[in-house]
Amino acid sequence: MKIVAFLGSPRKEGNTELLLMKAVQGIEESGQNVRIFNLNLMNIAPCQNCGGCDDTGICIFEDEMAQIYDAIRTADRIILASPIFFFAVSAQTKIMIDRCQCFWCEKYLLKKTVPAGAYGRKGLLLLVGGMKKEIGIQCAEVSAKAFFRTVSVPEHKTLSYLGVDAKGAILKNPSALKDAYEAGKELVKV
Ligand SMILES: Cc1cc2nc3c(=O)[nH]c(=O)nc-3n(C[C@H](O)[C@H](O)[C@H](O)COP(=O)(O)O)c2cc1C
Repeated sequence: MKIVAFLGSPRKEGNTELLLMKAVQGIEESGQNVRIFNLNLMNIAPCQNCGGCDDTGICIFEDEMAQIYDAIRTADRIILASPIFFFAVSAQTKIMIDRCQCFWCEKYLLKKTVPAGAYGRKGLLLLVGGMKKEIGIQCAEVSAKAFFRTVSVPEHKTLSYLGVDAKGAILKNPSALKDAYEAGKELVKV
């Protein structure tokens, strides 16, 4: 099974990363490997809406998004993990999502969906916000849902935690790490 994860937080060992790594632990203990893309460390330009992918479904811009396109196309499971920044997913996450416009063209203009393998395609969405305002989660989830739909991942589970602000504060949440671990295990169950 091919599993890819996108870490959208710039904070090293921050709450999103801690949550993601628990999900990864659950997956690895199930005998699978996860390829993690740390979006903050990657050279990915924002979508220019140049129309270069309209007729082909292939982005004409050459940067590190190339490896992500390949990973998304061949993945059985996709994990998207982002902090809430200004009531949305982080910029790092959103830039990657926007660059999936070529998948949108492929699916909706060229009428081709990314083919699923024997295990189907499933997603896991992990969100952490420092405030206690649900609207941040709702806004982020709308973007994430559009991402999953566009890359032909028809179902995903969401785990979201609010009021988690200081670095490492997620460790004090009574259920978050266990939830993520279980969600990781569940994600790769066949
Ligand atoms: C630029 C910025 C904007 C933020 N905006 C929000 C927000 O709109 N809503 C919210 O709940 N938390 C917000 N936060 C708080 C973060 O979501 C919170 O600190 C979170 O734990 C960060 O996760 P991380 O440790 O994985 O980076 C913001 C933090 C930053 C740095």
